[in-house]
Amino acid sequence: MILSERLRAIAQLVPNSHTLADIGTDHGYIPLYLIQQRRIQHAIAADISPGSLDKARQLIRQHRLEHCIETRLGNGLSVLAPGEADIILIAGMGGVLIRNMIDKEEEVARSAAALILQPMIGQEELRRWLLQNGYRITDEELVKEGRRIYEIIVAIPDTNALAYDNEIFYEIGLKLVEKNHPLLKEWLMKKIKSLDEIIAQLQRGKTESAAIRMLELKEKRRQYKEVYHWRIK
Ligand SMILES: C[S@@+](CC[C@H](N)C(=O)[O-])C[C@H]1O[C@@H](n2cnc3c(N)ncnc32)[C@H](O)[C@@H]1O
Repeated sequence: MILSERLRAIAQLVPNSHTLADIGTDHGYIPLYLIQQRRIQHAIAADISPGSLDKARQLIRQHRLEHCIETRLGNGLSVLAPGEADIILIAGMGGVLIRNMIDKEEEVARSAAALILQPMIGQEELRRWLLQNGYRITDEELVKEGRRIYEIIVAIPDTNALAYDNEIFYEIGLKLVEKNHPLLKEWLMKKIKSLDEIIAQLQRGKTESAAIRMLELKEKRRQYKEVYHWRIK
């Protein structure tokens, strides 16, 4: 199984373990890959969509791996019992949806050794929620596929986890800054460019709310630049 850059980066963050649950598995590529690599012994590939799960089932059957990859149809973590999965992976969805899934099945989420999360949007909300709800972010990764840079967050249950003392690290993952990730410069530049574009649009607006929003975004841009100069230059 050859994975895309994004999926390969996610798979690399999965520690060798007994059972991986891939929530929203769609095609089932990651469980299949990790079983083939003998990095996990058992996987639960789950999805809310019968069509998606059929794709995963077909792939698993094709590789004759039904004995080690189970498929389950259902919403979020409700398909799992507490303690069933060592590692829970939720990738390719919005950060708020991921957050709600973890929140809804707290006992299941807390029973895992680690959560590997790859939000497409809403990364800030997800980081903030994790830190405010007894999870510690232990690692973060960036991966480039095509023109897009994706963020991957590894979190572990830890009721002693401390909130970040600087708000900007909910947007720019602190772990990425600490390890001076090779893609950090490019990712920050993209963020600053898109803030520049939104600010330019708002500058044309005449309303008070546009002016307030513009000030907020200018402050955010200043903080992004501060991290850029602190870490990169
Ligand atoms: C964009 S795909 C991502 C597939 C794969 N995880 C990846 O990263 O490439 C999102 C998948 O999540 C599934 N999904 C969406 N909401 C879900 C939920 N509440 N519970 C389980 N699966 C869900 C969708 O059916 C779809 O298969």
